[in-house]
Amino acid sequence: MNSRTICVPNKAITEVKTIESINDMLSTRRILPVPVALVPTMGYLHSGHLSLVKKAREENQSVVVSIFVNPAQFGPSEDFENYPRDIGHDFALLANENVDAVFIPAVKEMYPLDFSFHIEGGWITERLEGASRPGHFRGVTTVVAKLFNIIQPTCAYFGQKDAQQAAVIRKMVTDLNMNVEIKTCSTVREPDGLAMSSRNTYLKPSERRAATILYRALILSEKLWKEGEKNAKRIRNEMKALIDKEPMASVDYISLADGNTMNEVDEACKGTLVSLAVKIGNTRLIDNTILE
Ligand code: PAJ
Repeated sequence: MNSRTICVPNKAITEVKTIESINDMLSTRRILPVPVALVPTMGYLHSGHLSLVKKAREENQSVVVSIFVNPAQFGPSEDFENYPRDIGHDFALLANENVDAVFIPAVKEMYPLDFSFHIEGGWITERLEGASRPGHFRGVTTVVAKLFNIIQPTCAYFGQKDAQQAAVIRKMVTDLNMNVEIKTCSTVREPDGLAMSSRNTYLKPSERRAATILYRALILSEKLWKEGEKNAKRIRNEMKALIDKEPMASVDYISLADGNTMNEVDEACKGTLVSLAVKIGNTRLIDNTILE
């Protein structure tokens, strides 16, 4: 077990307890006052992640943040190697948040050479993100289940930004009777509406400007809905037509679905999840809104 001493400008020197081994995490967990919250992340933290940490801090006695870029959830042609990492920056941000521990295991700690078991999520993991990224949710569910077993949190915080991921985790916890309460926090956006994401860092300045098209398409869906449009196909078509006007954008999917099952709907209703995945240049971005 270690402490990382961070010098935060204009603040006293702060210590963040860092834990790299599973055994150390298990013994720290035994002395943490309950309720214990877990905020799982892959690092390269931004205000979206911090909103989860702040909410967890408000609602619990103890807060553990995990930072682990999970190779199992990246496809062979995806960006595992290049996924942005900046542990120094992450610790500087967490030093302000009064977290009790940061669990930051190495890949070989989580996946020893003889690692064999995975959690398969079935139908809910096979659509939308799961269809575009085969094997992605198998990696997510497996690592999150491992984190739940290691940290044994009372509750865990996930972002609505990854709506299907949150639904998959809720379903895993229900179906496998895991004793963890799942909390979902709203999406934090840049001033121009772009949802904060570690992957935004890949965008060149012109792409960064084009990336607001995701939010603009979601706003269009909300406008159409408020005007009385219920037909999901028409809403999707109008969103697609708007995105197609942006030369740097190419649509992967636009979906109107039930936010728990991810089943596509023909008629939009209150609570329908509108989600989309769009490539801006080489960067694949996702976003969503819930129709009110
Ligand atoms: P990561 O992409 O680092 O995200 C960690 C958590 O932060 C997720 O629950 C995500 O939904 C949330 N988050 C990301 N951007 C957000 C934003 N703009 N507003 C609010 N919340 C936001 O998601 C993962 O990591 C991994 O799949 C993980 C669950 C850690 C498993 O490896």
